[in-house]
Amino acid sequence: MRRIWREALSAVTPYDAGKPIEALEKELGLQAILRLSANENPLGPSPGVIEALRREASRSHLYPDGGSTALREAIGRRLGVPPDWIIAGNGGDEILGLIARAAFEPGDEILMPHPAFEPYDIEARLSGATPVRSPLKGYDTDLDDILARVTPRTKTVFLCTPHNPASTIVRRGPLDRFLAALGDDPPLVVLDEAYRDFCDDPETADGVQLATRYPRLISLRSFSKIAGLAGLRVGYAVAQPEVIGWLGRVRAPFNVNRFAQVAGVAAIEDAAHLDRTRALILTERPRLLAEVARRGAPAPPSQSNFILPRVGGQADALRAALLKVGILVRDGAAVGFPGHLRISIGTRETNDRLLEAWDGAAGKF
Ligand SMILES: Cc1ncc(COP(=O)(O)O)c(C=O)c1O
Repeated sequence: MRRIWREALSAVTPYDAGKPIEALEKELGLQAILRLSANENPLGPSPGVIEALRREASRSHLYPDGGSTALREAIGRRLGVPPDWIIAGNGGDEILGLIARAAFEPGDEILMPHPAFEPYDIEARLSGATPVRSPLKGYDTDLDDILARVTPRTKTVFLCTPHNPASTIVRRGPLDRFLAALGDDPPLVVLDEAYRDFCDDPETADGVQLATRYPRLISLRSFSKIAGLAGLRVGYAVAQPEVIGWLGRVRAPFNVNRFAQVAGVAAIEDAAHLDRTRALILTERPRLLAEVARRGAPAPPSQSNFILPRVGGQADALRAALLKVGILVRDGAAVGFPGHLRISIGTRETNDRLLEAWDGAAGKF
């Protein structure tokens, strides 16, 4: 028998992003579901983005700029780095795939916290490399444990700050010591900062700054969360030009579509919308954390646009009860935290609706 499919694929469980919202609405017979399970932007995209998409529609027949030049220039201006320090991708997800395709080989060890954002593990397995898990210490990334697991075969260390799903950050001081301890021939360190824009802890690390000092550090960022472009798929990596050059070798010629590129630029140009989104999360987060704690479900100190309350044995029943009234939250067990729910922070009104539904449901188990 001719073997067609790569052996490595049999070790992979496809990423489960949940049912499309439209299908779920139909299934449950609901007009509109309030999705608080995917950490999307509750304010939606900037009006400037919508206008840019309208303007771009008539150019749909033209290939986009393969190098995403205007987008990389706009990102570079905002971050204070030259465009050749940036590669754009079809979401941060694609960037993870590019890193794997460019660097991971069978026999490599890919070190990551556990639990963590599932694609780290999937990309490692797809490449035939071996994922090596470092258990979280409670809700925190355990840098000492990760360091102890580094071997000569470690090709990449994934760190996620704020961590999805734990919502906590890796602090600057410990991260600096960790990076220094890796020595002068370190593995790649991917600092996944998809949620960084929601941090207000002054000790938050800054991957872009770190990339200027560490030639093998990659900061991964996304327009999905702060800019509300999850549906368009825009993400990017910042690293030294040599690293960006290697990643560029494995990307498809037109990996970021025309709409994603103009939307990304328009999102950056509307700084007020980015600020509004951040301000909303920073206002609502402490309130929501306090409210869930008051309901007997304490959550770790989130620095992200979601919280992870520990609900205990009632997690499934509460999730089902919320869904019944049209509120979808993420099953903690599905992301490595049984007894928890992962809940995206919404607007003041939707958060109130969540809490009201929570109270209504709580009496019924
Ligand atoms: C930790 C983390 N990294 C990366 C991503 C990828 O983001 P995107 O592909 O939407 O840019 C996500 C998306 O949810 C995430 O949670």
